[in-house]
Amino acid sequence: MTRYSQILGTGSYVPKRTLTNAELETMVDTTDAWILSRTGIASRQIVVDENTSDLAYQAAEKAIADAGIEKSAIDLFIVATVTPDMPFPGVSQLLQRRLGLNTITAFDLNAACSGFLYALNVADKMIQSGAYRLALIVGAETLTKITDYSDRNTCVLFGDAAGAMVIGPSDTPMIKDVVTYAKGDLEGHLTMDGYPLKQHFKTPDQDRPFLRMQGSEVFKFATTALPKTIRTLLKRNRLELDDLALIVAHQANRRIIDKAARTLDYPMEKMYLNIDRYGNTSAASVPLAIDEAIKEGALKKGDTFITVAFGAGLTWGGALITL
Ligand code: UT7
Repeated sequence: MTRYSQILGTGSYVPKRTLTNAELETMVDTTDAWILSRTGIASRQIVVDENTSDLAYQAAEKAIADAGIEKSAIDLFIVATVTPDMPFPGVSQLLQRRLGLNTITAFDLNAACSGFLYALNVADKMIQSGAYRLALIVGAETLTKITDYSDRNTCVLFGDAAGAMVIGPSDTPMIKDVVTYAKGDLEGHLTMDGYPLKQHFKTPDQDRPFLRMQGSEVFKFATTALPKTIRTLLKRNRLELDDLALIVAHQANRRIIDKAARTLDYPMEKMYLNIDRYGNTSAASVPLAIDEAIKEGALKKGDTFITVAFGAGLTWGGALITL
């Protein structure tokens, strides 16, 4: 039985089209100043003709190359997404063949913006069990597909992206701990439209399902969940904040990250930020941020860091990792 798992490689991909705050000013009653000061977002990258599987494909290829492994060695493939190309086949199943992977276990996982943490938790435990050796895990989203561009409360927030990781076995604890949680959002603070049963034999009123959010409720939840999860991970592993090289939080709103840092009394310089360029990319946010932090040198071999996320469900989770 394998005791532990480790990160072997990372990769990410964002689509080429930039959507600026200035462009959003022409679409809804908003301003660049409001968006920047209330969210920290200056621009986001959005798809034109690519779908979630296209973004995931690019990120996965990069992570596999970065890990320097043969594709034939991968025996587990998980894609975290709430915006698959279609309800089925899943993005993972579509990509299994396109990536040239063997006939392996491949499935999609939905835990919204916490999806990548859930995928990491599952892959870590499946590798620890000894049943699987090499996992490819991806967070990929095209949230702009389900964004209502007449709703200023949500349309300024989201961008499209994918991030990927290859996880393999380790003799020493590199992925030290992963925690994931959920509590039912019965109030509907963050949801996507479904099709009510009573409309079974009718055409739905609207032509597309949209994301809907009561932002301030999610804000309150997030500012509590982030510091609490970080403290839980440190306590469970008898570590202090000083032991961390960086905290990589889900990039949903710069103010949420600021507030978490203040609550923890942790320096903002050690909270990784790329939200200014990408906005909230849901399940792609954490693996994109980790990949960029590594490529920029903000995270180096041997560094210990915590990554945390929260999102619809409501879900949240975190991981304590040494690179
Ligand atoms: O991945 C997880 C999912 N989501 C999140 O993490 C989002 C969490 N929530 C947030 O990030 C923030 O709540 C928002 C950025 C969504 C909103 O910021 P806020 O500071 O909580 O604003 P608010 O919702 O309390 O609204 C304050 C005002 C309202 O106007 P009134 O009612 O005071 O006149 C809004 O209508 O700001 C208005 N507003 C806007 N004004 C200009 C809301 N969106 C905009 C906008 N431009 N885009």
